[in-house]
Amino acid sequence: MVDDGHQAEQMTNLGRWAAGRAYAPYSGYKVGAVLRGANGKYYTGCNVENAAYPQTQCAEASAIAAMIMDGERSIAEVLVIANSDQIVTPCGGCRQRIREFAGPQTPIHCLSQDGAIETHSLEELLPMSFGPEHLE
Ligand code: THU
Repeated sequence: MVDDGHQAEQMTNLGRWAAGRAYAPYSGYKVGAVLRGANGKYYTGCNVENAAYPQTQCAEASAIAAMIMDGERSIAEVLVIANSDQIVTPCGGCRQRIREFAGPQTPIHCLSQDGAIETHSLEELLPMSFGPEHLE
């Protein structure tokens, strides 16, 4: 899907918009996450920080909540972007959160604010992962 120029641009624009909504008064690091569900719909999320720092919610977790609330449970593609010159990659906890609803080959697009992009599969970012199948 990312090689479709229009869709890639749309996803990037949504990511920038989501990052702009971030509540990040403590770190100043604003993150936007976009999920494309198997249903073709896009779900966005931003980080929501808290004065009690560990209570902060990552952008990916917010986007997953939006997707689940809409009744979708399958992630086809992920994009993350932050207000940084460096490419942002999902934190370890968020890799596991994505793992719950995505497959090993699901692409995760990691962007800098100026649009530099690196794409990795979920399996690359979280090898030998633990998931729902282990509990079957
Ligand atoms: N953050 C995310 O939202 N997602 C990530 O995957 C990396 C980190 C947020 C959490 C915190 O609000 C800020 O970035 C700095 O860690």
